[in-house]
Amino acid sequence: MKCILVAAMLACLTGVAFGGINERMEFPNKKGTVVFAHKKHEKLADMDCSVCHEGEVGAIRTFGKAYAHRVCIGCHQPEAGKMEGPITCEGCHQTS
Ligand code: HEC
Ligand code: HEC
Ligand code: HEC
Repeated sequence: MKCILVAAMLACLTGVAFGGINERMEFPNKKGTVVFAHKKHEKLADMDCSVCHEGEVGAIRTFGKAYAHRVCIGCHQPEAGKMEGPITCEGCHQTS
């Protein structure tokens, strides 16, 4: 409970309070936390929000392993004519 409160306060202090989306998003999970640079990725997607947000722009209801590995890794495929970006597990999942 304490952690949730502190996290919410940090979120307010670091961006949300200024009307923006946090540039640095963290997704803790069993495999290792994934750190995601949202603003940078908006530009990488040519400001086309629908690349990652199907329908409404906001929290992604289907966000999780299947979604991430399809949408995120799906774009990090230079050899398939897509873009640079990590495809190895350690490239996204931080283990330390
Ligand atoms: C490369 C993928 C990607 C692109 C492109 C993208 N987003 Fe996101 N966005 C995400 C992810 C991942 C989340 C977190 C989803 C979750 O936690 O449910 C998110 C969350 C959000 C949220 C919720 C913020 C929060 O703090 O919970 C908003 C609002 C948002 N995005 C707006 C936008 C807008 C506006 C654009 C286009 C200019 C955009 N996004 C483009 C991936 C993307
Ligand atoms: C539109 C294509 C595209 C999508 C969709 C996309 N990425 Fe990326 N991503 C990139 C590119 C291009 C880079 C390399 C950027 C660079 O080298 O500056 C990158 C780099 C990264 C990096 C390395 C650190 C960094 O910020 O440079 C991480 C981690 C990452 N992406 C995670 C994600 C996650 C998680 C998602 C899905 C929520 C996602 N990406 C979706 C294009 C994309
Ligand atoms: C482009 C970034 C990216 C790469 C590369 C990637 N993952 Fe993921 N992975 C994610 C994201 C984002 C999530 C969703 C995290 C969440 O739900 O909060 C995820 C979720 C997972 C989960 C679910 C964890 C849980 O707690 O349920 C597993 C397991 C996983 N990945 C394994 C792997 C393995 C194994 C590899 C390498 C073969 C890999 N991932 C490569 C981004 C990535």
